[in-house]
Amino acid sequence: KEAKLWGGRFEESVTDTVEKFTESISFDKELYKHDIMGSKAHASMLAKQGLMSDGDRDSILRGLEEIERKIESGEFVWRTDREDVHMNIEAALTDMIGEPAKKLHTARSRNDQVLTDFRLWCRDAIDRILGSVKRLQAALVTLALKNEELIVPGYTHLQRAQPVLLPHLLLAYVEQLERDAGRLHDCRVRMNFCPLGACALAGTGLPIDRFMTSDALGFTSPMRNSIDAVSDRDFILEFLSANSITAVHLSRLGEEWVLWASEEFGFITPSDSVSTGSSIMPQKKNPDPMELVRGKSARVIGDLVTLLTLCKGLPLAYNRDLQEDKEPVFDSVKTVIGMLEVSAEFAHNITFNQERIRKALPAGHLDATTLADYLVHKGMPFRTSHDVVGRAVALCVSKNCQLQDLNLDEMRSISPVFDKDVYEYLGVDNAVKKFRSYGSTGSACVADQLDYWAAKLEINRS
Ligand code: ARG
Repeated sequence: KEAKLWGGRFEESVTDTVEKFTESISFDKELYKHDIMGSKAHASMLAKQGLMSDGDRDSILRGLEEIERKIESGEFVWRTDREDVHMNIEAALTDMIGEPAKKLHTARSRNDQVLTDFRLWCRDAIDRILGSVKRLQAALVTLALKNEELIVPGYTHLQRAQPVLLPHLLLAYVEQLERDAGRLHDCRVRMNFCPLGACALAGTGLPIDRFMTSDALGFTSPMRNSIDAVSDRDFILEFLSANSITAVHLSRLGEEWVLWASEEFGFITPSDSVSTGSSIMPQKKNPDPMELVRGKSARVIGDLVTLLTLCKGLPLAYNRDLQEDKEPVFDSVKTVIGMLEVSAEFAHNITFNQERIRKALPAGHLDATTLADYLVHKGMPFRTSHDVVGRAVALCVSKNCQLQDLNLDEMRSISPVFDKDVYEYLGVDNAVKKFRSYGSTGSACVADQLDYWAAKLEINRS
């Protein structure tokens, strides 16, 4: 058995069971690129500070580049007995270049090293998620532009409420995603501080320059407190919280599209390319991708809960428990990106069944609130007009007709305030036209929203 990098004081080697149980290489090799980045910055700083020669630095830099190349080409052999990504790379460097490699871990511990790697990894992950968020926003805006005039029922309590333009509804999701992106941006800014040089927990007596490594790695500055630097995991708690909120937004979108694709709603038809079938029922065509978007939100929330639970009982500073922080983060990132990408693909592959929606629109008295507003225009207090229209709806229910089917005499039997211009307010097309408040579903307001998003997301509108 090879001696451990930390083996000096040990007389016995660890059992296979312990070795297998404590290893993290099976998952933390994901950090290799950032581990190498961090080591290169660290070696350069050590040379600048006179803690190693320029020659040693150069062999370390060359060696690390060669290791990176080997990892990427699949030649590199990851060893469980070398425990984690940090010791795998350091030991491989020692095998490769010998003596100079032994200087690399000067004024560094795996505790600050792993967090440097992890913050760099998360920073990149956030950038990848932001790209996916933007692609989904663009897909939703494109879908809205394809159906600019389409009126759909808006729901509250899943009961028909008021008519809305479809783009208005789709842009509501775009707004949610924009706040999701904002949360990730904020989290990235707060995360972008450098733990390197905090060493095990207390810093070092060696003359290192933490500002130099922080700068070289693109961090805002070194973390101020070395104990905080190796203990803090709130950067990933915040990150996974942001991911969880995004996942919940996507789950709601998934639920809406699954409903809309049902025979009962029949609002959308997903193309075959984004649907799957049943192994027993030959007729089935299911919207599985969006069901799984809904389903996978559970894992993303679970990942956050895992991390919160992991951290809640830990005293300062580093505890080995914290090695368990990687997999939930990797899983959360991979899952959220998958959810965003498949939702965008789904959006590009659904058509709205205009005729079916059109036919369904008269049901549900979607224009009732507009009619109440009409009476307010005539000077009636709203609470009274609400009651008047309520009675008109009751009349419709008993006659099994729509508000616009009532004749003026019938209307006037309920309130003498009704006049023949009332018909300009009735029916969903008229009703939608009456909306005018900022942020409403009125065509002009929705057109403004579409302009805003198309420009912001650089969507070609030709
Ligand atoms: N693999 C460890 C982790 O991911 C690195 C830090 C280990 N530090 C230690 N003192 N054992 O947390």
